[in-house]
Amino acid sequence: MLVLGIESTCDETGVAIVEDGKRILANVVASSADIHRQYGGVFPELACRRHIDALLPVLDEAFRKAGVDRSEIDLVAVAQGPGLIGALLIGMNAAKGLAIAWNKPLIGVNHVEAHLYASFMGKEDPEFPALGIVLSGGHTLLLKVHGIGEYEPIATTVDDAIGEAFDKVAALLSLPYPGGPEIERIAREGNPEKFPFRAGFVKKSPLDFSFSGLKTSVLYALKGQNGVEKNISLTDKTKADVAASFQETALGDVVEKAKKAIQSFECRSIILGGGVCNNERLKKMFEVEFQKIPILWPPKGLTLDNAAMIAGLGFHKFLRKEGGDPLDLDALTRIPIG
Ligand code: KG4
Ligand code: ZN
Repeated sequence: MLVLGIESTCDETGVAIVEDGKRILANVVASSADIHRQYGGVFPELACRRHIDALLPVLDEAFRKAGVDRSEIDLVAVAQGPGLIGALLIGMNAAKGLAIAWNKPLIGVNHVEAHLYASFMGKEDPEFPALGIVLSGGHTLLLKVHGIGEYEPIATTVDDAIGEAFDKVAALLSLPYPGGPEIERIAREGNPEKFPFRAGFVKKSPLDFSFSGLKTSVLYALKGQNGVEKNISLTDKTKADVAASFQETALGDVVEKAKKAIQSFECRSIILGGGVCNNERLKKMFEVEFQKIPILWPPKGLTLDNAAMIAGLGFHKFLRKEGGDPLDLDALTRIPIG
C-alpha cells in the first residue's frame, strides 16, 4: 500500500511517499527555520506563509524522487496535530484536496505518536511492552507502549518541553535558533560539572519533568542572582561550561526518570523519538545506562519533523481503523496520544 504523508505542524513542510508503513520511497522536507532565526523562535504567521509556498514544490519533488505516479497512491495521511493551528490547517486542507481529487481515503495522524513510530522505520518492530520517550521542541513524554497505537502515559512536562529548554538556554547564550544543536556543539568544549544545576522535581508526580527552574538557574549563572546584571562579560569557556552543565543536567534527568519508569513493568525495549534524539551525548548516556535493553533510535533524517513518519503511522492507523477519516476531519492544536 502506497501512502502519501503530509507534515506541517510547525516550521517544516514535509511530503513523503512510504510503502506499507516501512519502505521510504521519498521524504522531502523544506524548513523555514532560517526565517525564524532572527526572532529567536518560530514566528507562526511566517511559518504558515512558507508552508503555502513550499507545499506544492515539495509534493512535486516527492513524486519525482519516488518515481511513482499520482494514480498509484492508495491513502493520504496528514499530521492532524498537535501544532500551530494555521500551519496544521494548510497541511490538512492540502491533504483533503488531494484525497478528493484522487478519490482516495484520508487519515489523520498524531504528530507526537509519529515521532515514536519513526524509530520503527526501516527495521523490525521492537518487542513490547516498551518504554516510549518523546523528546522534542514541543513535548517531553514517557509512555508505556503495548503496541502501535496502544499507549499508557507515564510522565509529561509541567512547563517547558526539553527541546524548548535547549532553545531558550541557547538564546540566553546568544546562540541561533534552533538552539539544541548549538548547545551540543559548544558543550563539547565545556566542563559539565562546572555549574551544579538541577532539573526540577515535581512533588505530586515525581516522574514528571520540569525545566523552567533549570532555565532560571542558567539565567542567574549568566547574569547574576537577580538575572539582570549587564556587565558580566562571558568568555567562550564560560559559555561552553554553562552549555555542558545544562545539557548534562537536562539529559541526565531524562535518563534517571527513564530508569525509574522501567521499574514498574517488564520493559522489553526502549523507543525514542523527537529532535533532541539527534544529541550524541544523549545516545551515549542511554547506551551506558541501559546495556541490557534494546534501544531504538529514529534513523537519521527522521528525528526532526518529517512526513515519512506521518505516512508510516498513517498506514497502521488506517488498517487498525479499517478505513479512513471523514473529510470534515479537524486539525487540532492539542490531541491525546493513541
Ligand atoms: O521534533 P522536533 O523537530 O520538533 C517538535 O516536534 O517539537 O524537535 C525540534 C527540537 C528543537 O527544540 C531543537 O533545538 C531540538 O529538537 N534539537 C536538539 C538537537 N537537535 C535538535 N536538542 C538537543 N541536541 C540536539 N542535537
Ligand atoms: Zn515534532
